[in-house]
Amino acid sequence: METSRIPGFYNMTVEERRRLLTKMENLTDKDAGYLFSKEPLAMDTADNMIENVIGTFQLPLGLGLNFLMNGKDYCIPMAIEEPSVVASASHIAKIVRNAGGFTTDATNRVMTGQIQVVGCPDFNEAKEALLKQKKSLIEAANNAYPSLMNRGGGAEDLEVRILNEESGSKYSQMLIVHLYVNTCDAMGANIINTMAESLAPVVEGLTNGKVYLRILSNYPERCLARARCVIPPDLLKTGDFTGEEVRDGVIHAYEFAASDPYRAVTHNKGIMNGIDPVVIATGNDWRAVEAGAHAHAARDGVYTSMTVWSKDEHGSLVGELELPMSVGMVGGSIRVHPIAKLAHKILNVDSARELAQVIVAVGLAQNLGALKALATDGIQKGHMALHSRSVAIAAGATGEMIDMISERLIEEKEIRVGKAKELVEEYKK
Ligand code: MEV
Repeated sequence: METSRIPGFYNMTVEERRRLLTKMENLTDKDAGYLFSKEPLAMDTADNMIENVIGTFQLPLGLGLNFLMNGKDYCIPMAIEEPSVVASASHIAKIVRNAGGFTTDATNRVMTGQIQVVGCPDFNEAKEALLKQKKSLIEAANNAYPSLMNRGGGAEDLEVRILNEESGSKYSQMLIVHLYVNTCDAMGANIINTMAESLAPVVEGLTNGKVYLRILSNYPERCLARARCVIPPDLLKTGDFTGEEVRDGVIHAYEFAASDPYRAVTHNKGIMNGIDPVVIATGNDWRAVEAGAHAHAARDGVYTSMTVWSKDEHGSLVGELELPMSVGMVGGSIRVHPIAKLAHKILNVDSARELAQVIVAVGLAQNLGALKALATDGIQKGHMALHSRSVAIAAGATGEMIDMISERLIEEKEIRVGKAKELVEEYKK
């Protein structure tokens, strides 16, 4: 999409939005067909995806608009059931856009595999033996998945840790091999698990121990994506609040989350409100992304805020978010779910690294949306405005009637479909 600014998108009908998107994205008839279809995920496809299938479960799919990152525009497909999230992300993206957009970057997509070895006669010797053979172990891992090197990836490093070394530990001593693999555009779980399983016999031979687990770690600390935004205070002004007041409120809200795990959990949940919908829409494993994100938030031993908000020398609000991001562009449900395929088309990212950056930027925007509302009017005001609109629509309001009736419902503090129906009748007369 050339631009992610689509004024009035919000007030269009679903049909109008679909037609516009089809045109703007140059969607093929097949893709557009999925967008308009009543059952985009066919039952036989679903039946082949998981076990004991009895149906499919649908979620609303919305578009996060106005996102500008590193000078490129993105329309962001978001699958989520919670009202306000898409509106809030788009609102903040518009503010950040006017401030020059998000800047993002990411490491290579280096995922981590773990091999657990117990019962070594001498753990330090076992560690040394493995490190001595590091090169050949990496080579053996690559031989287990040769196609990855053709794509420019492959196993590239190996580390060994000893756990529970202290005498009197209530857990068994064990040796953990970390295998680091650049999985390119694949999320990487299958690649890593195949490699880790293939190394197990060699590892047992070198350590004289017994291998138990051979599995991907969902904390890929070498697969990070970062987003940053810098917003002058005049762009933050809202209602009766000055930009400086909003900025300071956001920083205080951040400091609360940074120093209190009870608040950090909710603060971070708000970040995941932006991240999960994109991960889901693009057919990725959101449980993996969630698990990694929370582990990163506790990397220093205390669970804390995922984002950092501060003020720069010009008085601008600066927001930063860094997260592990184990998402892919190929494989898994991305290959089979038609809406996931469509979401990739709409998002128009070229690599999993780029996708990871987009996702982190949406998380940062979502966090600012929540903090800005919480530090000013409170979130209920915005929620009520959106809720009253959907009540008005449910009561049959269309076009300009929607805003008028939604405002009356709020004014009269009666946000009910029955009341909205009365107002629709009144308007028609
Ligand atoms: C609600 O889904 C998310 C918030 O609670 C996040 C936050 O408190 O920062 C609004």
